[in-house]
Amino acid sequence: MSRSAPVVPSAACVLLALALTACGGGVHGTPGGYGLRDPYFPRAGNGGYDVTHYGLRLSYDPGAHHLTGSATVTARATRDLSAFDLDFKGLDVAEVTVDGESARWHRTGQELTVRPPDELEKGGTFRVTVRYSGAPVTITDPDGSEEGWLRTADGALALGEPVGSTAWFPGNHHPSDKASYDLEVTVPEGLQAVSDGELTDRRTRAGRTTFTWHTGEPMASYVATLAIGDFEISRSTTRDGLPVYVAVDPDQARASRPVLAKIPGIIEWAQDIFGPYPFSSTGAIVDRPGDAGYALETQNRPFFPGAPDTGTLVHELVHQWYGDSVTPRTWRDMWLNEGFATYAEWLWREDHGGDTAQQTFDALYEDDGAADRIWAFPPAKPPGAADVSASPVYQRGAMVLHKIRQTVGDEAFRSLLRGWASAHRHGNADTRDFTAYVEKRAPGKDFTRVWRDWLYGDGRPDRP
Ligand code: TRP
Ligand code: ZN
Repeated sequence: MSRSAPVVPSAACVLLALALTACGGGVHGTPGGYGLRDPYFPRAGNGGYDVTHYGLRLSYDPGAHHLTGSATVTARATRDLSAFDLDFKGLDVAEVTVDGESARWHRTGQELTVRPPDELEKGGTFRVTVRYSGAPVTITDPDGSEEGWLRTADGALALGEPVGSTAWFPGNHHPSDKASYDLEVTVPEGLQAVSDGELTDRRTRAGRTTFTWHTGEPMASYVATLAIGDFEISRSTTRDGLPVYVAVDPDQARASRPVLAKIPGIIEWAQDIFGPYPFSSTGAIVDRPGDAGYALETQNRPFFPGAPDTGTLVHELVHQWYGDSVTPRTWRDMWLNEGFATYAEWLWREDHGGDTAQQTFDALYEDDGAADRIWAFPPAKPPGAADVSASPVYQRGAMVLHKIRQTVGDEAFRSLLRGWASAHRHGNADTRDFTAYVEKRAPGKDFTRVWRDWLYGDGRPDRP
């Protein structure tokens, strides 16, 4: 791929290399290039390397709306590289180093192109450090919702689905590249800084508090989060000893308490159905209703704009299995997140004295008022980037799962749900992986119509 924004010296080097077969010390790397050819977000992610770890050191002053950051990205080159891109939007870059040596860089749109002093060899690990500062931006998505860095009444909030993490740290911002994280955040004393993983240190000096968060399990950057503000913190553990860390805006504390008390029970119920919880802690972050327009399955600790209802809490917690642990390979595979999380809501109701999943399915199938929305497009083929969070991905995605359940029976279905989470635990998967998995695990069953009509077909399928 040589689609990188042109770095003039690098292009010259390539020409020279062609002519003289010697350039940059004899390694003939090429630019990694921008984008991973995602069908909906073609510029998201970058070619030529695989991130293993993000080390982020940030400092934020909410009053001045000023962020200072240093990001050290550890990555493995997947080919010989003369240059590579990071996704990074807004904020001013002060310096870039690669393996401790100062590197040339330039920016076009969300691409930060870095040209290391020495070419990077395929298979080798390198560390790129970017120092930056400024006023982080809020990004408006193709569907009109806001993500990136959001200012709140008492601080800020970083939300990253699908590309918002470009607004607060440079990286390979595509779901297919997961990594571990260490995040150190300094904020004015009195405020909290809440993120993914576990809080490993917290210290106050000269009126500023530094919070250190560690995420050991692989995390896609779109589920990385940071919430800065006034929060009431409560810690507990589930019966299995899983740490629960909950941060709630004081304004939402009363309304949230009863529902958040259900977290341990929901995790236990979910483990029973979906298999072992994939991460080393859980919890929630609740900010005020005006702070964001939606809930999000941020890793370990889902985010809610205001006290959630039980269904939404179940939805975001079950995303930890389907979305955060088993992560879509591209944004086209969103139904593997939303269909599963929505079906979990149906299962929760079924298991707790509410409608059965069959009743929920029937009601949706017959709801002519919602027909325009539910049958607008097939869940596995959203027409465009603005549709990846639309109703067919959620409701009709869940209906696909229900059709599988009807085909294989309850017991085999539960075993498929668990098996899928376990087969791709902490990895990535796409729709074809899923259909192949189901067919392999249920030999002799016919899924032709489920795939053709429910997963990929246009319009409302006929009732069987
Ligand atoms: N994933 C969120 C949920 O259902 C919803 C969401 C927020 C979303 N922002 C998005 C989905 C952007 C797709 C793209 O819990
Ligand atoms: Zn969801």
